[in-house]
Amino acid sequence: MFIVMTASSVDALKQAAAEAAASRIASGMVVGLGTGSTAIHAVPALAQRLRSGELRDIRAVATSYQSTMLARELGIPLFDLDQIERIDLAIDGADEVAPDLTLIKGGGGAQTREKIIAALAKDFTVVVDEAKLADRLGSTRAVPVEVLAFAVGPVSRAIERLGGQPELRMAVRKAGPVVTDQGNLLLDVRFAAIPDPARLERDLKMIPGTLENGLFVGLTTRVLVASMDQGVPKVREILPPRKS
Ligand code: 5RP
Repeated sequence: MFIVMTASSVDALKQAAAEAAASRIASGMVVGLGTGSTAIHAVPALAQRLRSGELRDIRAVATSYQSTMLARELGIPLFDLDQIERIDLAIDGADEVAPDLTLIKGGGGAQTREKIIAALAKDFTVVVDEAKLADRLGSTRAVPVEVLAFAVGPVSRAIERLGGQPELRMAVRKAGPVVTDQGNLLLDVRFAAIPDPARLERDLKMIPGTLENGLFVGLTTRVLVASMDQGVPKVREILPPRKS
């Protein structure tokens, strides 16, 4: 039987996953606010719990202008990384989730700040709809790499030597390339296969002129996956495989 997913049913899944993650926030926590059409649903959910008095003493750090602007609009107290000593829970989306919970992120171009916050978080909870689950890392998505504009040429050539096919990300409602929140450019890099994600993550970082790439290895605490069950969004949790 085919189930037709409309844009609104996909959005209902994204909202269900993000709200499930926001329900894990407790009073006193420092919370990382992710970026993208899924993670952004956690922001109004958190604001609502603050307004109702259910939560108190929340400090938030944002991964992008998108989450900063919405959090400000909804009155969530925002802090810089140098004003907080820990992050208890970071909630973010992903473009692709491999079976071992390695991720490709950066579809929204925010992977640099997202990775800093994920790496600082005690609990990095990823929220997705089931279309993001992949059998093999890199099979459905390119790996975004943030690059200094000055170095796009040499970085592209170095990436080709690693076996990748880089493509400069172009803007949609602006002429020219996408410029990140940090003022840099993005290369979306296709790889035929990613047999060793940790090594590729390091190799990409070692190219002078790159800031951060969208490979998130060993950071995920859990993935909350939303899927439709007889027309109703249902959220299940996937934990990383145990290390032997
Ligand atoms: C932004 C990200 C997003 O979390 C990722 O692209 C998923 O976005 P969406 O929930 O809109 O599919 O990494 O840089």
